[in-house]
Amino acid sequence: MSERYAVVLAAGKGTRMKSKLYKVLHPICGKPMVTHVIDALQPINMNEIITVVGHGAEEVQTVLEDRSQFVLQEEQLGTAHAVMQVREQLEGKSGVTLVICGDTPLLTNDTITKLFEKHEATGAKATVLTARTTAPDGYGRVIRNEQNIVERIVEHKDATEEERLVQEINTGTYCFDNQALFETLTHVDNENSQQEYYLPDCIHLMQARGWTVAAYEAEHFHETIGVNDRVALAAAEKVMRKRILEHHMRQGVTIVDPDNTYVEASVTIGRDTVLLPGTTLQGQTTIGEDCTVGPHTELKDATVGNGSTIKQSVVYDSEVGDHVEIGPYAHLRGKAFIGDACRIGNFVEVKKTTFGQGSKAAHLSYLGDAVIGKDVNVGCGSITVNYDGNKKHQTHIDDGAFIGCNTNLVAPVKVGEKALVAAGSTITENVPAHALSIARSRQVNKEGYTETKKQD
Ligand code: UD1
Ligand code: MG
Repeated sequence: MSERYAVVLAAGKGTRMKSKLYKVLHPICGKPMVTHVIDALQPINMNEIITVVGHGAEEVQTVLEDRSQFVLQEEQLGTAHAVMQVREQLEGKSGVTLVICGDTPLLTNDTITKLFEKHEATGAKATVLTARTTAPDGYGRVIRNEQNIVERIVEHKDATEEERLVQEINTGTYCFDNQALFETLTHVDNENSQQEYYLPDCIHLMQARGWTVAAYEAEHFHETIGVNDRVALAAAEKVMRKRILEHHMRQGVTIVDPDNTYVEASVTIGRDTVLLPGTTLQGQTTIGEDCTVGPHTELKDATVGNGSTIKQSVVYDSEVGDHVEIGPYAHLRGKAFIGDACRIGNFVEVKKTTFGQGSKAAHLSYLGDAVIGKDVNVGCGSITVNYDGNKKHQTHIDDGAFIGCNTNLVAPVKVGEKALVAAGSTITENVPAHALSIARSRQVNKEGYTETKKQD
C-alpha cells in the first residue's frame, strides 16, 4: 500500500448558506460537517491529513484541534487554488492524495476506502468518486467518452443544456497520484463562468496528457450530498438521522417512530431501551438499558441509568440514576443529580440539586441549590427559596425528612433527619432532626361571621 494523504477543503465562506456560521461548521445531527468528514477518514491510516482553512480559519481549527494539520488559503479562488496551498507540505512526495470537501458530511469510511482501493488497483493518476441522481442540479457533471471513460467534469454553471441532462455527478472527492496532482495543478486556469480555479479541471488535463483517469461510482447518491444551502443541510440531516437511528435499532434499541425521533451522533443508548415519538437526544447524552424515554422528551448532555422512565420532560446537563420515574412535564437542569429509585413528577423543576436514593417530589415544586438526602418526601408545591436577589443559597434536607405541601424553605436552611415540616410552613430557621416544625399563622375561626354580615 502506498503512502496516503488527505486534503480537506474547508476554506469557503458558504455564501449560499446565508449564515453567520461558516459553512463547514454547520452541524449535522449535532456535529460540525467538517468533523464528520475527519471522522470518516479516521479509520484509514493516513500519513497526513491537511485541512485548507480560510473563512472562519480559527473556528475550524478550534473544532478539529490536533486531528488535522492546517494550511491557510487567504483568498478563495477555487478548489484547485485551495489544493495548491498544500504544495509546500505535499509536493514531491510519492503516494496517493485524497481530496475531499468539508461540505460532504455523509461520505462513509467504507466508500472512501473503496475509492482508494479502486484507485490503487487501476494505477490511474486520478480516480473521481461519482454518483448518480435524478436531481443533479448544482453539481459538476461527469462527461464520459464513447469508451465510457471519464473525459472531463463540467460545472453546472458552465454546462450546456445537453450536459445538464447527465445524471452522473462529481462528488468533489478524488484520489490523485500526488506528484501528478501538483504537476497538473499549475496548468489549471480560471477561464470559466465563476472565474475560479476548478479542481475538476485536473481530470481533462490529465486525460489530455494521456494519463489514465478512472471513476468509482458510489452506491448511494445520498451519501455524497454536498451541502451548499439550507435545503441540502436539511436533506443531509435527514440521511444522517436515519443512519444514526438504524445503528441504535441494530444495537437493540426500540424506536417506535423513527420519523419523529432525533438522536445526535454523540449519544449512546443501552439495549431494550424504548424511544417513544417526539424524543430528542442531544450532546453527550448516555442512556442505560431498559429505559423508556418519551413521548415528547428532550435530553441534552444527560446521563440516565438503567430501567428509568422519562416522559414529556426536559433534562439538560444532569444525571438520573436507575429505576427513576421522571415526568410528565418535569424540568431538570444545571447539574441536577437524581439518585436511584427517585420520583420527580409533574411540573417539578430541579436545578443544581442532589436527590438521594428513593426521594420524591411528585408535584409542582422548584428545587434549586439543594442537597436532599435519601427517602425524603417533598410535598406538592414546596419550593426552595434559593435566591435573595443577589446570591444563591443552599438548602439541606436530610434523610427521611417529610416536607409538607406548599412549604417555603428560605435558604440557607437545613431540615434535619426524619424531621417533619407542616404543610404551608415558611421555614427560615434550621429544623432539628426528628422535630416537627410548624411555621404558619394559626387559623382563626369566627363563628357565625357570614350570617352576621348578611343582616347588615
Ligand atoms: C464542488 C465541485 C463540483 C462538485 C461539488 C460536490 C468544483 C469547482 N466543483 O462544487 O464539481 O459536484 O463540489 O459537492 O470543485 N473551497 C475552498 N476554497 C475555495 C473554494 C472552495 O476551500 O477557494 C472548499 C469549500 O469550503 C467547500 C469545498 O471546497 O468545502 C467545495 O466548494 P463549494 O463551493 O462547495 O463547491 P461546489 O459548488 O459545491
Ligand atoms: Mg459544495
